[in-house]
Amino acid sequence: MSYSTLLTNLENGIYTITINRPDKLNALNKEVFTDLEKAVEEIQNNAAIKSAIITGAGSKAFVAGADITEFSGLSKVQGMSLAKRGQDIFFKIENSTKPIIAAVNGFALGGGCELAMACHFRIASDNAKFGQPEVNLGLIPGYGGTQRLTQLIGKGRAIELLISGNIIDASTALQYGLVNYVVPSAELLNKAILILLVINTKAPLAIAASIKAANAVFNETSNGYATEINAFGECFDTEDMKEGTNAFLEKRKANFIGK
Ligand code: COA
Repeated sequence: MSYSTLLTNLENGIYTITINRPDKLNALNKEVFTDLEKAVEEIQNNAAIKSAIITGAGSKAFVAGADITEFSGLSKVQGMSLAKRGQDIFFKIENSTKPIIAAVNGFALGGGCELAMACHFRIASDNAKFGQPEVNLGLIPGYGGTQRLTQLIGKGRAIELLISGNIIDASTALQYGLVNYVVPSAELLNKAILILLVINTKAPLAIAASIKAANAVFNETSNGYATEINAFGECFDTEDMKEGTNAFLEKRKANFIGK
């Protein structure tokens, strides 16, 4: 299958998906969402695919977030439906019966960090950077980030990152347990491939069952995802969200007023 915003390659049962908008740091716009959803379906339906890697084009970014240009003028309800759309696609990744891992090759911010966290585990290059900087835009993560960050690194560290917008480097991400390995950039894809080549020799049904059982630990938090959708939508009703996103697009500092 071919995609307008993704490059794909199938070799040795490993399907490598490269988000390909390097001039916009691979920001997630509507087209990327549509393509990602189809690619995850392809992973499920194509028997030749045993596992997958998601990475970003270029040397700078995995994904620098949701495409902020698409936020302008959204209402609360439209914001909620955007969050629901993102959450639905990321649930499909998380619930894939075949392993999908993130090879984080640079900035993984906002929706990019959320995408990486929806994957089954993460490998980072030494120049990778992680964060949920939505608070700088008068926003919160909407694609499951408030939930998965808390699951992966614990509440205290998660809340600090969510409310400070701080960006952490790859070695801190490793220390926090957000990523499993940090390797030099040039070795990132190779490392991901070597890990998946071993996984690909294991029993597919047992792999699927392992993923399902591990995901089940967090089932009871599913209300948190609904809370996130509401809170994300409510941000779109605030002056601060308009100010924050305009300031980013106008390349200036935001002046928040608490309304
Ligand atoms: N949405 C839309 N466009 C984005 C984007 C995003 N999330 N992130 C980067 N871009 C665009 C920039 O607007 C710029 O486009 P232009 O060349 O047409 O002006 C291009 O990608 C390159 O980004 P730039 O900001 O010039 O690179 P930088 O090296 O100076 O800074 C970042 C890199 C990642 C620190 C910065 O791009 C950034 O803060 N991005 C937004 C991160 C964010 O808030 N994500 C959460 C969104 S909910």
